[in-house]
Amino acid sequence: MKARGTIRVPGDKSISHRALILGALAPSDCRIRGILESDDVRSTATVLRALGAVVPTLSDDVVVRGHGLSGLTRSHSPLQCGNSGTTARLMAGVAAASPFISRFEGDSSLSRRPMARVAEPLSAMGAKFEFDRGDGLPMTVHGGRLSGIAWDTRAASAQTKSAILLAALVGGVHVSVRESRRSRDHTERLLRHLGVPVTSTDIRIQLSPVESLDAFDVTIPGDPSSAAYLLAYASLARVVVALPGVCVNPTRMGFIEALRRMGADIRYEDAAANAGEDVATIVSRPARLGGIRIGEAEVPSLIDELPLLACVAAAARVEVEVSGAAELRVKESDRIAAVVSNLRSVGADAVEMPDGFRVSVSSSRTLSGRIATRGDHRVAMAFGVLGALPGNEIEIDDRDCVSVSYPGFWEDLDSLRKN
Ligand code: S3P
Repeated sequence: MKARGTIRVPGDKSISHRALILGALAPSDCRIRGILESDDVRSTATVLRALGAVVPTLSDDVVVRGHGLSGLTRSHSPLQCGNSGTTARLMAGVAAASPFISRFEGDSSLSRRPMARVAEPLSAMGAKFEFDRGDGLPMTVHGGRLSGIAWDTRAASAQTKSAILLAALVGGVHVSVRESRRSRDHTERLLRHLGVPVTSTDIRIQLSPVESLDAFDVTIPGDPSSAAYLLAYASLARVVVALPGVCVNPTRMGFIEALRRMGADIRYEDAAANAGEDVATIVSRPARLGGIRIGEAEVPSLIDELPLLACVAAAARVEVEVSGAAELRVKESDRIAAVVSNLRSVGADAVEMPDGFRVSVSSSRTLSGRIATRGDHRVAMAFGVLGALPGNEIEIDDRDCVSVSYPGFWEDLDSLRKN
């Protein structure tokens, strides 16, 4: 067993987007400390600036000047969302309730991702959506006066739920959302923290309108999805690691829970509360891992970590089967195809299923070869963990794409390796 390393993972991506958006909708200056300085969060800042909000260059201490719930103004150039689905979908909710036209654009990956999931409820509330083709970006939103709705989401999607809640907030109407499965609840928590009456019972969330948000000063907790890569490496390489200040919101803990069920020794220490979220130091100690099955009910709580789970299975040489995860096909890449084809190309044993994958114990003890990330940050980082393990030699075609969510990933992984 090796010595203990301490790494501070960057701010949570989901909460960073929400803090920026709500800061821009608040009545006065809002301070955000520890925001994630990544390409995706920069996309949200870019879109908010285009709509007239005063958002400085991202840094560890950002002050956003909000102009109130109806303070945004029309952008005469398209809103550039880059690679960020969260930017496009959450801001579609804001645009739907804003009395002007907004045109959304994204990179080639984002342009392939479905927007009907937000266009349908927001249209039912009274906005008008136009697509150049299919239901992907570019998309034009004609915003205006909205009415309240009660909406049942088909796929469990925090982005869809959040788009509806933000539309109701800006539009000043009451909404009720029922999810097929519970998705991450950061929007609800931050809204409540800012004085908005949001009630939730597991899968049903209701929001009542307010005149104005409270101004705020928040510190963004560490991102559990970024922490996941370091915890996985630590478990597999038998090193001890401590990650202070990580968000331990139960709707995000699926990967850690899965690793624990596989036998990992991961504990939470020094629990504290911060801006409506629970944070803790996550400590991982060496343990031997076994196989696991993940079904649909659990999927939303580890949706972004499933590529990593597949790589953990290959490295630990255990069987892991994931089903009920068809959503993986419409992420930054088709993550089922990307993970399975890349695992096979480095010598692991994996098969695709329509809604998931199965990784079996492969005959080769070491894994080597070149993988194609398809520009997907989570594929790059999952295989980065695999490649960092002793004996494996994995070349990654696009290491830089990690800048979408974890720009310092390679340095942090390296520091853990050398620990
Ligand atoms: C996110 C929600 C998830 C997740 C994404 C970020 C969010 O997508 O995959 O990386 O910030 O709301 P869903 O819309 O599928 O929940």
